[in-house]
Amino acid sequence: MVEGSQNIDALLTEDRRFPPPPAFQEQANVNDPGVYEEAAKDPEGFWARFAEELHWFKKWDKVLEWDPPYAKWFQGGKINVSYNCLDRHVATARKNKAALIWEGEPGDRQVYTYWDLYREVCKFANALKGLGLKKGDRVTIYLPMVPELPIAMLACARLGAPHSVVFGGFSSESLRDRINDSEAKILITADGGFRRGRVVPLKENADEAVKGAPTTEKVIVVRRTGTADDQMNPDTDVWWHDLMEGQSQVCPAEPLDSEDILYLLYTSGTTGKPKGIVHTTAGYLLGTYATTKWIFDLKEDDVYWCTADIGWVTGHSYIVYGPLSNGATSIMYEGTPDYPDRDRFWSIVEKYGVTVFYTAPTAIRTFMRWGTEYPAKHDLGSLRLLGSVGEPINPEAWMWYWEHVGRSNCPVVDTWWQTETGMILISPLPGLTTLKPGSATRPFPGIDAEVVDEGGNAVDLGQGGYLVLKKPWPAMLRNIYGDPERFVQQYWSRYPGIYFTADGCKRDDEGYFWLLGRVDDVINVSAHRISTMEVESALVDHTAVAEAASIGRTDDVKGQAVVAFVTLKEEVPASEELMVELKQHVAGKIGSIARPDDIYFTAELPKTRSGKIMRRLLRDVAEGRALGDTTTLADPAVVEALKERYDEDEA
Ligand code: PRX
Repeated sequence: MVEGSQNIDALLTEDRRFPPPPAFQEQANVNDPGVYEEAAKDPEGFWARFAEELHWFKKWDKVLEWDPPYAKWFQGGKINVSYNCLDRHVATARKNKAALIWEGEPGDRQVYTYWDLYREVCKFANALKGLGLKKGDRVTIYLPMVPELPIAMLACARLGAPHSVVFGGFSSESLRDRINDSEAKILITADGGFRRGRVVPLKENADEAVKGAPTTEKVIVVRRTGTADDQMNPDTDVWWHDLMEGQSQVCPAEPLDSEDILYLLYTSGTTGKPKGIVHTTAGYLLGTYATTKWIFDLKEDDVYWCTADIGWVTGHSYIVYGPLSNGATSIMYEGTPDYPDRDRFWSIVEKYGVTVFYTAPTAIRTFMRWGTEYPAKHDLGSLRLLGSVGEPINPEAWMWYWEHVGRSNCPVVDTWWQTETGMILISPLPGLTTLKPGSATRPFPGIDAEVVDEGGNAVDLGQGGYLVLKKPWPAMLRNIYGDPERFVQQYWSRYPGIYFTADGCKRDDEGYFWLLGRVDDVINVSAHRISTMEVESALVDHTAVAEAASIGRTDDVKGQAVVAFVTLKEEVPASEELMVELKQHVAGKIGSIARPDDIYFTAELPKTRSGKIMRRLLRDVAEGRALGDTTTLADPAVVEALKERYDEDEA
């Protein structure tokens, strides 16, 4: 039985259907249903045709070399991602088109045309070179949502220096571990960022991290909040604006091999140590380019807004690389949706005439809770297409999005993918697909996805199982940085030669895919991945804790919430204060996204005879099924009694 966070039975009774509005269909970038069959017959030809739309210094010799689990796409080709996102457009009438319209949380604004962005990226690339950065050197970027973030990424890409962006909400320890794992030479940070009216002290965290990260030679600091002017270390720190002064606006893009590393992005898996997902150049660019063009249907005059933070893969692929390679105008917003009021997003949509809007179900559920008056206050008539990403979208949230944001005439594309997949793999094509609320519908053309049982056999339509990918795709991860064994073990060993997604999925009678949530020990909190092991190691790091287990509990807004069960050391009494302290300890160790919503103190943790923590029991406890109203496990007899019941169930 595949367990996921979605309720399968409710999904299967969903019978609402939304065919593409005829006016949308007519103008769509793709409206010929033949694309699916054509791509299935010859996936390599399909991708190669798309690749012709990119700029190549030298064309590839071979589209794909597949030696499972190692794929090489476009071998022999020479290409540069930054060139494709900038120079290519600067050479056309797009030169003075807005590439990025950035709005800071306090309301400040900056517009970068393609030409502006090109010049800033060239200058910063020259600055990096001046600091001795060479092709292949890693750069860690720990920035808030400011324009310098995509500028830094594109500058790295220009030189062939892999970037590793660390979400600004991560703690100093998390940052330190990521710098060390990638042995980055340069760290780019800011004094702070604005979030809900407050300053997030990034520089303090960065300073703390660098103390334990000896490979860091230089720290480049963006001055955003003016809160760290007295914290500059003269030996290592340099202001971004000082560094940029006098730099040449010309920096030729390095012709890179198709398989040169573009970036690393750390994500949580089933162990305590986040893994550095490796993405390479040509295939990744192609995958994000093609999916952006077809799924978001971008046209020359669209105003596209993806609300993700660039610290996550969604921002990498669908704020930076996909939209810019398509020559689109993108909105980038620094802050939270409720500052200064709960209509901030809708005011941005109205102000800039956003046409394509991409966000996460957790945000939609938050908007639902706030009420329809906030979107209703604004003219959202510019919108023509909506997207969802990061977690399963429940049909109620889908319908709310459709009605109250899309005014019942914007297709909603529910896009399934992962940090590892680099690009969207399962999604409607908005001019072709009849939508069903809650379903990501079907694989993108050229993608071979299947739902299989334990033995790897495809399940019948109407059944559930594990989602797998049977053929390589251009933007797929190439490895785990520094840990090739884990790469094989994690993704390719359950079904040899087939990629295991760790997601549960159900096919309906028409073959639509319904994602059911993770089947491993990854918790998906507000569309962000946290591993149960990470939370557990953070807890046992506290002096009061003997043992800890954590699980994801279903949460109406966040999708899942972190819940922890803690056994204290013998001499330590349980208390409210300690609970608060432990929550803070986890947030301090990992970042506030990992802060447990609930902590239960328990005399012992329920384990199977072989010593495995009984997570299903803990989930039932956390969701109020196992213990009824009782919220304490402190009585050892309770755990024993529960265990017996579950042992019987499991037998
Ligand atoms: O469980 C799936 C869920 O998010 C996981 C990937 O998380 P991450 O690597 O952080 O990337 C998030 C942004 C792509 C998946 O294994 N997930 C993502 N999108 C969806 C989803 N679950 C259901 N429906 C989706 N549209």
